[in-house]
Amino acid sequence: VPPKYKVLRQQDLVASRQLPSALIIGVKKGGTRALLEFMRPHPGIRAAGSEIHFFDHHYSKGFHWYRHRMPTTLEGQITMEKTPSYFVTAEAPRRVHLMNPGMKLIVVVRDPVTRAISDYTQVKSKRIDMPKFEELAFVNGSEVVDTTWSPLRIGMYAKYLERWLNYFPLSQLLFVSGERLISDPALEIARVQDFLGLKRLISEKHFYFNATKGFPCLLKSEQRATPHCLGKNKGRNHPSIDPTVIKRLRDFYRPFNRRFYQLTGIDFGWP
Ligand code: A3P
Repeated sequence: VPPKYKVLRQQDLVASRQLPSALIIGVKKGGTRALLEFMRPHPGIRAAGSEIHFFDHHYSKGFHWYRHRMPTTLEGQITMEKTPSYFVTAEAPRRVHLMNPGMKLIVVVRDPVTRAISDYTQVKSKRIDMPKFEELAFVNGSEVVDTTWSPLRIGMYAKYLERWLNYFPLSQLLFVSGERLISDPALEIARVQDFLGLKRLISEKHFYFNATKGFPCLLKSEQRATPHCLGKNKGRNHPSIDPTVIKRLRDFYRPFNRRFYQLTGIDFGWP
């Protein structure tokens, strides 16, 4: 074999569907769609288009069902999927581990207070007559934070991370800052490429800041030659929330955030 050429077998040239070897497991409203779409131009990965919900809703359908939801790949390409509810699903760590103990897990996290407001804004956009955030955040008009309300529950990241760490070493998890994914997408995408063992092909050159949308967008990719942003449902305007409510929520999350920084070894700098 001439040494400068790659050696491939005939079967390596045939596209086939594989179970994912990397998952974006959360968090909901953290910036999971942005992360996946910003990684999509990389030729080393192929990702499912929609959220598959295998490890929460469709687990009983089996691995065969799951594999057939995956895009076709060639030898050496990484198959990926993102379903943000996996992070908070009690059974997910055990189920993922059973399927592949070497799975690479990516978690996009964001200040839990902003995340809660983002989550609320999403629900509100689909409902008429939505009570105010300030009313939903506390138990019966008290000052007790309602942790049964999912926009607030999901933000207790440390609690959920502990469950994943029962099954996976920290080295198999990558934490992406949702804030930095907005302020410096190329930096976070470089970290993701390194984590997945991919060449750093996606860089500053791929992004521009769209002043109208107020978010970074893709300038070009192999799939699309024209600039494009995420859809209208990403980067919504948030309602303004009573500052005393914000303060109470910050106080509530502080110990959870500290624990999360301890577990991950990263200070995300949330206020
Ligand atoms: P908002 O719509 O509340 O601003 P997810 O994809 O996990 O549901 O996260 C949605 C959030 O991604 C958005 O929440 C937005 O803040 C964030 N985001 C990060 N980068 C973005 C980008 N380039 N374009 C649009 N939204 C982005």
